[in-house]
Amino acid sequence: MVSPVFLLLSCFLGHVAVAGRTCPKPDDLPFALVVPLKQFYEPGEQITYSCRPGYQSRGGIRRFTCPLTGIWPINTLKCLPRVCPFAGILGNGTVRFTTFEYPNTISFACNTGFYLNGTGSAKCTEEGRWSPTLPVCAPVTCPPPPVPKFATLRGYKPSMGNNSLYRDTAVLECLPKHAMFGNDTITCTAHGNWTEVPECREVKCPFPSRPDNGFVNYPAEQALYYKDKATYGCHETFVLDGPEEVECGKLGKWSAQPSCKASCKLSIKKATVLYQGEKIKLQDRFKNGMLHGEKVSFFCKNKEKKCSYTEDAQCIDGTIEIPSCFKEHSSLAFWKTDASDVKPCE
Ligand SMILES: *[C@@H]1O[C@H](CO)[C@@H](O)[C@H](O)[C@H]1NC(C)=O
Ligand SMILES: *[C@@H]1O[C@H](CO)[C@@H](O)[C@H](O)[C@H]1NC(C)=O
Ligand SMILES: *[C@@H]1O[C@H](CO)[C@@H](O)[C@H](O)[C@H]1NC(C)=O
Ligand SMILES: *[C@@H]1O[C@H](CO)[C@@H](O)[C@H](O)[C@H]1NC(C)=O
Ligand SMILES: *[C@@H]1O[C@H](CO)[C@@H](O)[C@H](O)[C@H]1NC(C)=O
Repeated sequence: MVSPVFLLLSCFLGHVAVAGRTCPKPDDLPFALVVPLKQFYEPGEQITYSCRPGYQSRGGIRRFTCPLTGIWPINTLKCLPRVCPFAGILGNGTVRFTTFEYPNTISFACNTGFYLNGTGSAKCTEEGRWSPTLPVCAPVTCPPPPVPKFATLRGYKPSMGNNSLYRDTAVLECLPKHAMFGNDTITCTAHGNWTEVPECREVKCPFPSRPDNGFVNYPAEQALYYKDKATYGCHETFVLDGPEEVECGKLGKWSAQPSCKASCKLSIKKATVLYQGEKIKLQDRFKNGMLHGEKVSFFCKNKEKKCSYTEDAQCIDGTIEIPSCFKEHSSLAFWKTDASDVKPCE
């Protein structure tokens, strides 16, 4: 007699022995896919591991069969991100990146004077390629420089085809009779344009007027213009106060207005003075008078301290003020010591 319980049990055990145990849901592997993915697998069922798009394993696809033990074999599959070609260097620019792996994005910038020909960033795709393709830094160029009215270009040579490169310069010159307002040198900027161009304006100066006791010469023209020159001179015994030559400036004025200054007649008959650091006799050196601007130092006595000191006097347009401390000796008072022979005060 076979007990029904035993029958049932043996039937159950027999089933287990044939079917084995079911396998559980397989372990998650980073960046991998399992097909098919279920909660349980019957012994004999197959699964395949593969890497997600953008990732690669060294061994490629792995197949496993659920064994009767119900335990999946050890899986050593490793999925690693694809690596895009090295892109860490951008000529005349810089690249910002962490790694060149999927799915990272890198970005680009160009140095001053260069512009990005392409996009500012690129992504490493699932296929391991940069998208969009990597940009280049191209040099900034400026078109031929603008030439303002009444101006000409001097010493300009395009450096790239018909264009100029960043930092190239050109020099502008005004036509005769015209003065420049602004900088004569223009520079190709990093924006691809030129710095501000100067302006050339016609500039006229009035005819210079003749100075009293003198004369002025200037070109015999209808009008006098920027950079024209005039020369001044004075009649005898008069001295020019100012430069001999003046020039018409960019604001329509002469660089100076010289005048003629009178020389000084000397009321003193006899005096020893300092002139250009030397003791001289006033009556000898300046017997024709002193010219405008000339300067001498008179000697004076300090009676208490019995010493001498000097005071300056200058001829200004016909007038010279003799220092009040100066005492002119009569030529008969030969016993008196002249101030210039007294020892100087400390
Ligand atoms: C960078 O720019 C300079 C000047 O335009 C050029 O000579 C050089 O070849 C450039 N370098 C690269 C790597 O493009
Ligand atoms: C800019 O890129 C385009 C497309 O790649 C290319 O045809 C062109 O020559 C480039 N220009 C410069 C100035 O590099
Ligand atoms: C420069 O400009 C001239 C006239 O516009 C043109 O004929 C020539 O092809 C240009 N040269 C270059 C290198 O661009
Ligand atoms: C004119 O421009 C040049 C170049 O930009 C600069 O070096 C120079 O100092 C400027 N001159 C004046 C007078 O501003
Ligand atoms: C040059 O271009 C820049 C940028 O577009 C602009 O700000 C600047 O005013 C321009 N300079 C001149 C002189 O036109």
